[in-house]
Amino acid sequence: MPSDHPKYLALGASSGEPFLFIAVKRGASVDVFYNRCPHMNLPLATKETKPKYEDGKLTCVQHKAVFDIERGVCVQGVCNGKPLWRIDAQVRGDDVFVA
Ligand code: FES
Repeated sequence: MPSDHPKYLALGASSGEPFLFIAVKRGASVDVFYNRCPHMNLPLATKETKPKYEDGKLTCVQHKAVFDIERGVCVQGVCNGKPLWRIDAQVRGDDVFVA
């Protein structure tokens, strides 16, 4: 998994449905969130539309809310101040394990 790029994990999602998790590796750690936006509970990313990720900020594909990945909170847009749903995760080698 390349560092500092979002990875969309389909774990638990059936074909045709949005990804269940979004993972962003930062150095030796990884931040994993449910692929749901706190604004309207819609997917942050879809198979067709990837969110923009730049300088530690992830933008929801739906209504362009911007999330600070380190803090896991919306810092700009319609759900300002609301948190993403963070999942406990660990990196072991090239693999990411979620709890
Ligand atoms: S659902 Fe993400 S900004 Fe509206």
